[in-house]
Amino acid sequence: MALELTILVGTMTGTAQLVAQELELRLDDGETRVHTKLMDGQDASVFDDGGLFLICTSTYGQGDVPDNARQLYDSLGGTRPDLSRVHYGVIALGDRTYMDTFCNGGKRFDALLGELGAQRIGEVFLHDASAGILPEDEAAEWVGGWIALCNQPSGSDAAAKVHPNAAQG
Ligand SMILES: Cc1cc2nc3c(=O)[nH]c(=O)nc-3n(C[C@H](O)[C@H](O)[C@H](O)COP(=O)(O)O)c2cc1C
Repeated sequence: MALELTILVGTMTGTAQLVAQELELRLDDGETRVHTKLMDGQDASVFDDGGLFLICTSTYGQGDVPDNARQLYDSLGGTRPDLSRVHYGVIALGDRTYMDTFCNGGKRFDALLGELGAQRIGEVFLHDASAGILPEDEAAEWVGGWIALCNQPSGSDAAAKVHPNAAQG
């Protein structure tokens, strides 16, 4: 059974989208099927069927989620759905020169999803734009370990449970 992964992209100037495209290229094979969606126009219903998600988002303002992620973030906070059938990972893009608000966009999503009962797989991946390493390269390296965790018995069982109709691999 294929592992179905939805990448949700929060971005202001396209970096997170570039990262998601690189991950899709790397991960989308017979065993993993990747669906990449910009967060624009999304709300909490994107999680209605449960499943495996990768939140890939930058940080703006004073440690806020980007504008295109606002509706989804507010919808989750406002409706507070039960996300216990959701498994997720987080790629948080930021810049350490912002110090106290470093990668807060991704950290905010992580905190909210956790509060709503979703189960995170692996650690939040933090990218520091001031370090000079391309986020798509660093994230592509990180995601190999992350997808291996998702494919471990507990991870894939969870994904299979919430994707009873997932296509056969
Ligand atoms: C106006 C502005 C505000 C930002 N605020 C933060 C911040 O509070 N914390 C942080 O870690 N990064 C901050 N960043 C850095 C971005 O999150 C980072 O450059 C990211 O890679 C941009 O990704 P995007 O093109 O997908 O939006 C800020 C960048 C800009 C231009």
